[in-house]
Amino acid sequence: MKPILLSGVKPTARVHIGNYFGAMKQFVDLQDKYSNFNFIADYHALNQMMDKPQDIKRLTLELTAAYLAIGLDPKKTVLFRQSDVPQVTELNWIFNSLVTPSYLQSAHAYKDAVAKKKTVNMGLFCYPVLMAADILIYGSDIVPVGKDQEQHLEIAIDLAKKFNHAYGAEVFKMPKGMIWEGQSVKGIDGEKMSKSKGNVIELFEPEESIRKKVMSIKTDSAGVDDKKDPEADNVFAYHKLFSVKMLDELRGRYEKGGIGYKESKEILFANMMAYLKPMRKEYEKLIKNEKYLNKVLSAGAKKAREVAEEKMVKVRKAIGVR
Ligand code: TRP
Repeated sequence: MKPILLSGVKPTARVHIGNYFGAMKQFVDLQDKYSNFNFIADYHALNQMMDKPQDIKRLTLELTAAYLAIGLDPKKTVLFRQSDVPQVTELNWIFNSLVTPSYLQSAHAYKDAVAKKKTVNMGLFCYPVLMAADILIYGSDIVPVGKDQEQHLEIAIDLAKKFNHAYGAEVFKMPKGMIWEGQSVKGIDGEKMSKSKGNVIELFEPEESIRKKVMSIKTDSAGVDDKKDPEADNVFAYHKLFSVKMLDELRGRYEKGGIGYKESKEILFANMMAYLKPMRKEYEKLIKNEKYLNKVLSAGAKKAREVAEEKMVKVRKAIGVR
């Protein structure tokens, strides 16, 4: 049996090229090596989307179409909605009895929200507990995590130990983190790519809008003939992702001088569109076929529920409610 690789993404925004190269592409690359469980964390999104039911629904469909368009194969990957597996929220409740408020008060995401004087609801406060339930219920071996999620994984491991210890049973397996080899992509302003900064290039936004964004990537003020350090230029950073075949040639022209940023951006835009074209075409088709997307999600949910229920039978028995 292949090891289980689990990952969840919240449906809070449209996918951008940072999500793609940073994480999503890897799910596709790894789907033969691992048994992939890939879910849309709609309940985790709830604490920031309480007032946006239509958005959750829409973004979930878009994320599903995006996953399929980039090459996730629903025959290999179990693609599903978190909310389709009620066993997860059931386990969340059981885990609640194993953690104290002071323990959760030390979680980064919570402390951050408090520091920023955001209103904190119980959804945010208990976020790591629900995430532990996600991770542990499927017997995950590997959980790819970015820096911001490392603590959540530690909490999950902690809960697995607490539970196993409290009930003297090896019900939960200890998951391991996996650091992505994926590339981090900067936004068009050179800062971390994030929706809240308004510096993202979405995978599936209109071509004209992508062109405008590419042409507005921030650069220094070197002239056409000036020698340029490719490693210091954000346009070149994108070339590394989209212009792989002509990278040496571009590097040479940067170092010698003779290529302006405008020309470099035009080349980038052309290469970017060529790279993205097949998945964009596929996405256009998929996003119109809501019925199919829901069918994929339902089939995934059915498999996920089977695995989750098998675990919950053991959990309910261990805690004495069965
Ligand atoms: N918290 C993750 C994020 O914000 C999403 C998530 C929820 C998740 N449950 C998970 C990721 C379980 C991995 C495993 O990105």
